[in-house]
Amino acid sequence: MRRSADMPSRHIHHGRTSEPDLFRQEPVERHFSSLKQVREAAETCERCPLYRNATQTVFGEGPAHAPVMFIGEQPGDQEDLQGKPFVGPAGKIFDRALEEAGVDRKLVYVTNAVKHFKFEPRGRRRLHKKPNAYEIERCSWWLDTELRLVKPRLAVALGATAARALLGKVTTISRIRGDFLKLPEREADGFVTVHPSSLLRAPDEASREREYARFVADMKAIGRHIPDVRA
Ligand code: URA
Repeated sequence: MRRSADMPSRHIHHGRTSEPDLFRQEPVERHFSSLKQVREAAETCERCPLYRNATQTVFGEGPAHAPVMFIGEQPGDQEDLQGKPFVGPAGKIFDRALEEAGVDRKLVYVTNAVKHFKFEPRGRRRLHKKPNAYEIERCSWWLDTELRLVKPRLAVALGATAARALLGKVTTISRIRGDFLKLPEREADGFVTVHPSSLLRAPDEASREREYARFVADMKAIGRHIPDVRA
């Protein structure tokens, strides 16, 4: 993994390398047998510093064996306050697109690559800040556990952060968007599309509509691939 600027430096003692104490290591081999157990354990996660400023861990939500798992980037302001994924502005677009595509949100599992809200205070507002490589890597432990337990037939990455966490490498979304990828190590198919919040950032009304229609088309393709999630 490449180091980034805000990644903690390692302490080197007598030739040995250790993480600073503030990054308490969870035993990786710890075995969870239910999502409930994992969700409870994640409530007190201190695997990276993001827990310090966030209100709470926002864990995934949905049927325990949903055939499709959607993966976002990280909770936003509303998600942080409500403790649920995709309930703010991006969630509203996501819900609308799913509905138009005939996919029932209640039948899918929705989670994020990073489970704590990362932000920068700006007056009374909290501005979203992108998680770095270290935070994505540390949090992938939870996502991997969700994938292992839910066993979706299709895992959908919404945006670059989710794609990185799902595929384990940096990818160019435009190159693989809309393809059904074989992910043998996940025992699932993968699908990559844009993050719904990118639709809000389109420069004008026409491109917003075009991008939204493309996103709905992706959701329809998902519904055709896994008809069990159709409303
Ligand atoms: N953006 C995300 O990636 N996830 C959320 O839960 C909300 C906004």
